Amino acid sequence: MANYVDRFNAADRILHWIVAISFFLLMLSGLGLFAHTFFGYFDLFGGPQQGIMVHKWAGVVFFVSSVLLFLRHVGETCRFDADDRQWIAKLGGYLSRKHQDIPQGKFNAGQKLYSIFAILAALVLGVTGLVIWDPTAYSRELTQFSLMLHGLFFTLSMVGMVVHVYLATIGNPGTLDGMLYGQVRKRWAKKHASKWYRKVAKD
Ligand code: HEM
Repeated sequence: MANYVDRFNAADRILHWIVAISFFLLMLSGLGLFAHTFFGYFDLFGGPQQGIMVHKWAGVVFFVSSVLLFLRHVGETCRFDADDRQWIAKLGGYLSRKHQDIPQGKFNAGQKLYSIFAILAALVLGVTGLVIWDPTAYSRELTQFSLMLHGLFFTLSMVGMVVHVYLATIGNPGTLDGMLYGQVRKRWAKKHASKWYRKVAKD
């Protein structure tokens, strides 16, 4: 369609939604393990034993799919230039009433930082998750340290996810189209990712 430009192919989208679904399963099943107040969340899975089983296997899916998602976009998300530094200095213009025209590539600097945080969190959650998989497998000190890091990164990931979902939907209308249908409006691309748009419009 003339008003649209391709942004994500089917593999990008399937992988992203596997990460998102496994994350939500982990969040719901993990809450019961996190604090006594949330114990009732295990009922969603048929009881504590089933909830813990879902948590462990959703964790494996989340870890593997997060690594694959990161590898798919690493060429863009781990490269920062002068425009990205300007975006960071101005916090993407989110604190200003006026639209700040800072040229960005396929992902803006905030998205790049989020995807680096997301892979770091997946690695920490994955490694510490393996240590606590069987609580008797390692020393008490290592198990407790892993539990502490697991809880900390679980909390940080939930905060990060809320911000990510807000910015990908209500905060920046039109962004979700790319992850649902694979294409975004040209107007969206010119506004949010002008350097990327110039490149793909030439091809
Ligand atoms: C309902 C939940 C979610 C929604 C609606 C959502 C939406 C989106 C959208 C629309 C994009 C594309 C942004 C663009 O075109 O510039 C995106 C990218 C991405 N998403 Fe999600 N997402 C969700 C959950 C998650 C979760 C749980 C994770 C990881 C834990 C995640 C990680 C990523 C990453 C790494 C990218 C690529 C780079 C970036 O935008 O940071 N997403 N998401």
